[in-house]
Amino acid sequence: MTHTPLLKKCLFLLSAFLLITGNALADETYDPDTYGPEAPIVWEKPARATFDHKIHTMDAGLDCAACHDDLFAMESKEESKRETFTMEEMAQGKFCGACHNGNDAFDSSTQCASCHFPPTEKIVFTQPVKTVVFDHSIHTGKAKLACESCHKKVFTMKQGGIEAVQPFKSENPAEKRQYLVDLHKKYCGTCHDSSQAFGYLTRCTVCHIGVKGLEQKANGTAEKETHAKKNS
Ligand code: HEC
Ligand code: HEC
Ligand code: HEC
Ligand code: HEC
Ligand code: HEC
Ligand code: HEC
Repeated sequence: MTHTPLLKKCLFLLSAFLLITGNALADETYDPDTYGPEAPIVWEKPARATFDHKIHTMDAGLDCAACHDDLFAMESKEESKRETFTMEEMAQGKFCGACHNGNDAFDSSTQCASCHFPPTEKIVFTQPVKTVVFDHSIHTGKAKLACESCHKKVFTMKQGGIEAVQPFKSENPAEKRQYLVDLHKKYCGTCHDSSQAFGYLTRCTVCHIGVKGLEQKANGTAEKETHAKKNS
């Protein structure tokens, strides 16, 4: 043992001091004047997104002036004033992208899930054919896919992408078949190719559940809700 008793005592006092100040910091209540509003800011449209002051001020140590008022006004933007608040502008270094550029903070073209939420409701495509159902929870849950695996190339983070595709009209069966193959390959079929997930040329009715299938699903949940009400 080479420690002198005095050194031991000093070390003990030092660790006791660190413990106490550590606890004091953890117990400190959140002060909005020092750190900005406590409740996260949530934009609902066009793609639900959130911003948390605490992460940026209290945790990352940024001053109010790092964002206010050059990048953002000190008020949550109304929808009508937000045409330019887009991922494209961010990629060019504006808004969140002033820091979320891969140098000062993670790049805004990665980690979509840090700022966005997946829809909880099923998405139903009704054009050109009824009714294809897409469920985020299967894909981001059980299948553990990142948002980027669909939203960077295959789909925009907005409903109506496939529906905007012009329906193809032809009497030629070969052309028609080729069009169908291409359509499926371009979207869901990028994964549903019989290797990464079940193939688009198989099990048509798993995706195309039809109007009846949708009604059945809807009635299924309606019935559950009635049961729940009866029980309570
Ligand atoms: C990293 C950037 C950033 C920093 C740092 C920051 N803010 Fe903000 N603040 C925002 C954003 C983004 C908004 C929402 C603006 C919008 O919707 O255009 C906002 C909005 C606000 C609002 C309006 C909230 C509302 O609901 O209308 C207040 C008040 C505010 N900030 C205060 C502060 C204070 C005080 C500080 C420093 C302690 C601070 N902010 C630091 C980014 C920041
Ligand atoms: C650093 C946070 C952040 C990250 C990371 C991020 N976004 Fe966003 N995104 C936002 C904010 C903030 C808005 C504007 C508010 C709104 O649209 O509700 C937005 C808007 C959007 C919009 C609508 C406007 C537009 O650009 O068309 C889409 C679509 C979108 N994001 C997709 C994505 C995708 C896909 C990813 C991942 C590749 C991603 N975002 C990553 C914060 C982020
Ligand atoms: C002034 C610089 C700056 C601006 C502007 C800024 N951020 Fe950040 N942000 C940071 C830093 C620094 C961190 C912490 C380091 C990191 O996570 O990369 C951070 C972290 C985050 C995180 C936490 C990531 C995690 O998983 O822990 C989220 C979410 C986030 N920012 C969203 C946003 C959104 C949304 C906006 C725009 C409304 C925005 N930020 C604008 C600097 C900034
Ligand atoms: C397997 C593919 C896939 C994955 C993974 C995925 N999405 Fe989607 N998402 C879609 C499809 C398909 C649509 C509808 C697009 C269309 O109609 O063109 C959509 C639409 C959306 C919309 C728009 C909803 C609306 O009402 O307009 C948001 C927001 C969204 N996704 C967020 C997310 C987020 C956040 C994640 C990651 C946590 C995620 N998505 C992961 C396929 C995916
Ligand atoms: C990024 C890859 C990817 C894309 C794009 C994708 N999926 Fe999937 N999907 C998967 C994976 C992985 C699974 C889980 C494995 C499986 O069931 O084969 C899955 C599962 C499913 C299931 C559940 C099957 C079951 O047996 O319960 C349905 C339904 C489905 N996807 C529909 C769609 C539809 C509709 C689209 C297009 C709008 C789509 N998917 C786009 C990867 C993807
Ligand atoms: C992985 C999901 C998935 C599978 C499996 C699938 N489809 Fe599709 N299909 C879609 C989506 C998404 C669309 C475009 C949205 C819509 O039309 O509602 C579509 C569109 C179509 C269309 C309309 C094209 C147009 O422009 O008129 C036909 C016809 C079709 N599918 C037939 C089939 C047949 C036949 C099978 C089985 C051999 C099949 N699909 C399997 C997802 C799927």
